[in-house]
Amino acid sequence: MSSTKRRVRWFRIEITAPTSAKSIIRHLESYVESSMFRIYAPSSLKAGLALCLLASCAGPGSYAQSSELASTPPMGWNSWNHFAGKVTDVDVRAAADAMVSSGMRDAGYLYVNVDDTWQGTRDEKGEIHPNSRFPDMKALSDYIHSKGLKFGIYSSPGPKTCAGFEGSYQHEEQDAKTYAGWGVDFLKYDLCGLRTVMGIYDPQPDWKKASAIMREAYLKMHKALLKSGRPMVYSICQYGSDSVWEWGAEVGGNLWRTTDDISDSFRSMALIGFSQAGLERYAGPGHWNDPDMLEIGNGGMNSDEYRTQMSLWAILAAPLLAGNDLSRMDDITKSILMNKEVIAVDQDKLGTQGTRLGPLQVWVKPLSDGSKAVALFNFVTDDVPQPITLRLKDIGFDGLVNVRDLWAHKDLGLLRDSYTVTPPKGGVVMLRVGQ
Ligand code: GLA
Repeated sequence: MSSTKRRVRWFRIEITAPTSAKSIIRHLESYVESSMFRIYAPSSLKAGLALCLLASCAGPGSYAQSSELASTPPMGWNSWNHFAGKVTDVDVRAAADAMVSSGMRDAGYLYVNVDDTWQGTRDEKGEIHPNSRFPDMKALSDYIHSKGLKFGIYSSPGPKTCAGFEGSYQHEEQDAKTYAGWGVDFLKYDLCGLRTVMGIYDPQPDWKKASAIMREAYLKMHKALLKSGRPMVYSICQYGSDSVWEWGAEVGGNLWRTTDDISDSFRSMALIGFSQAGLERYAGPGHWNDPDMLEIGNGGMNSDEYRTQMSLWAILAAPLLAGNDLSRMDDITKSILMNKEVIAVDQDKLGTQGTRLGPLQVWVKPLSDGSKAVALFNFVTDDVPQPITLRLKDIGFDGLVNVRDLWAHKDLGLLRDSYTVTPPKGGVVMLRVGQ
């Protein structure tokens, strides 16, 4: 397949790309170079922050709930990638149990997040109740908290969620209060149903108005969360539309999805992960770019490819939300999700998102102790892996450096000038380099 095509729908980016790995690479190169994230929104919508009228424009985080909330990228688990619309209270408790028994909690995974389809109906007072798969949200939350974990939930600013369940439209304060009463610590707020209210399906949509409605809706829930008095990590999910990284923090977001949904394939993961270069300046403590959840352990990629996701997400300082069935993890999955040296890169307190260095395969992230995490990727899955040379001066080092291999858990000793290695097909070599 030779043609590459980017199909863009307003408020939902859909990428179509060839399946052969070589053409994925060509596609990625043009995809990244064209800074797609900056070109798909109508230019009329880029005319500044309409919400500057409503919120302080002092800079990212100025509207955050507290400086401690999400001071490093949130880590945890979310039900969607594995359980999707079938998730139950029993599954979520099992995930919490496994989070502890597997060692994930001690490795830093904290949030246990129920995604879409937990909602039932509203009562005569307008209060939301869970459906029969979730008999008692407060009891579930207490159970999760009793394990030393935190509890996350999902809603939409629209009347309906993506899966057609009850959204928070016109019930924002009431829902925020309900969540606070249940002991919720994290809210993923997913655009979907609001698009009808925004008028984007009208014959001649008013894009400016649509954008303002969207931003106001996110700000409204942020204010409702603040008013509830309970700190909740606020996760904005609107698939990266309207350059959300430019205004996500202003509407109180602690993280915002930068792309459409990930799926459990190398193609999807690589297209999303390798296209994040350029967004690094929008990330920092309390406000993170979110290239979507982890697929590690779900079965659609091999272990080298899953190591690629873990390494790339760590370099990107991305939220690490596992999306697999934690109660059935094999040892390889555990070793990938719980590689403490790679997690330390993601969670480094400097909070700097790494980026691509020259050739697409080399990514680098500065760390708080002056060292640098470097990931050398070989995302050629249908060809013989090629050696990659890292020139130490390209990452700011002169003279002898200490190098540690974060997947082999091995010191490589003192090196000078350059390091050449051949990462496996679709895989990665990840280093920590310092003096
Ligand atoms: C959207 C989101 C997903 C998931 C589903 C649930 O597609 O992007 O992450 O939350 O909705 O319906």
